[in-house]
Amino acid sequence: MTKTIAVTGGLGFIGSHTVVELIEAGYSPVIIDNLSNSTLSVLDGIEKISGIRPTCYTLNVLETSELEAIFNTHQVDAVIHFAAFKAVGESVLKPLDYYHNNVGGLISLLNAMKNTGRNQLVFSSSCTVYGQPQTLPVTENSPFSKAESPYGQTKKIGEEMLMDISKTGMKTISLRYFNPVGAHPSALIGELPLGIPNNLVPFITQTAAGWRKQLTVFGNDYQTHDGTCIRDYIHVVDLAKAHVKAIEYLSKTEAMFTAFNIGTGQGLTVLEVIKAFEETTQIQLNYQIGLRRKGDIEKVWADSSKANAELGWEAKFDLHQMMRDAWKWQGQLPITI
Ligand code: UFG
Repeated sequence: MTKTIAVTGGLGFIGSHTVVELIEAGYSPVIIDNLSNSTLSVLDGIEKISGIRPTCYTLNVLETSELEAIFNTHQVDAVIHFAAFKAVGESVLKPLDYYHNNVGGLISLLNAMKNTGRNQLVFSSSCTVYGQPQTLPVTENSPFSKAESPYGQTKKIGEEMLMDISKTGMKTISLRYFNPVGAHPSALIGELPLGIPNNLVPFITQTAAGWRKQLTVFGNDYQTHDGTCIRDYIHVVDLAKAHVKAIEYLSKTEAMFTAFNIGTGQGLTVLEVIKAFEETTQIQLNYQIGLRRKGDIEKVWADSSKANAELGWEAKFDLHQMMRDAWKWQGQLPITI
């Protein structure tokens, strides 16, 4: 029988790609999204790719009783929880909003699941929980560090809460994302730009498109081979597929809480990303070297061997494909500055 998966934040960047992969794997997703960082037009893209327009509720996850009604109406089997604020800088300015929405939202969701007898959850976490790891690549057993921001803190608290709650019957998988980039190869869904991007790849594509004058590389005096920071960039479609594997795993595993690193295992510098973009698109990027950005981690990349072995998942797209799809997505966006 087709399994129904509730996807909170299912119209967002990672959520929408996951909905597409769920449909392709034969699941029936039900989207719950309050449109705080997305639009209903994302449904058109999902429908064009998959041929199915999933049911979508415009709802804040803080509305516990509404969530309960949805879980019962659709006989939801499991939940993937993306709905959260994610801007690191904004979280420093509005910490209470982040705790309310991200921690409060998770508590509301868990109550709704408990009250309706649902006990399978996939949680969106982040490599931010590790801070600057002492040893690289970072494994799931590496210690949590002090969070760099209230945003990071909400992910840490979320995971710690889930570890406790899993002891009372909530079966949880926490996926710790590294740096998701790119877009669906069809360019029908991707990351919607809102103002000046904080993240590297949207800033690169917007600079190449003439939306931004120049990219600033934040520091070239780090202890890395070219002096710029190292990250583990992962194609959003690969990341989305990890959620489908997590749903399969949840229905089989006895373990009540499991965390997986979701990255490629390859650390790349900012300059290497720029070079790959230039090679892939044959566009020379206007960039300058600037000062370090406060709070940046020097280097982090994943050991994803646990996800490879236990989830049966691995990243397939390389950096050039990430750049190609990010650029294709940028190309069809309406011009805005
Ligand atoms: N960078 C630049 N110029 C820019 C933007 C970024 O040089 O204009 C550099 C950063 O300094 C960093 C790298 O590009 O070295 C990647 O930066 P991003 O902002 O794209 O990504 P981060 O690794 O800083 O942040 C990401 C997510 C956060 C999450 C964090 C840790 O965006 O949500 O990983 O998990 F908290």
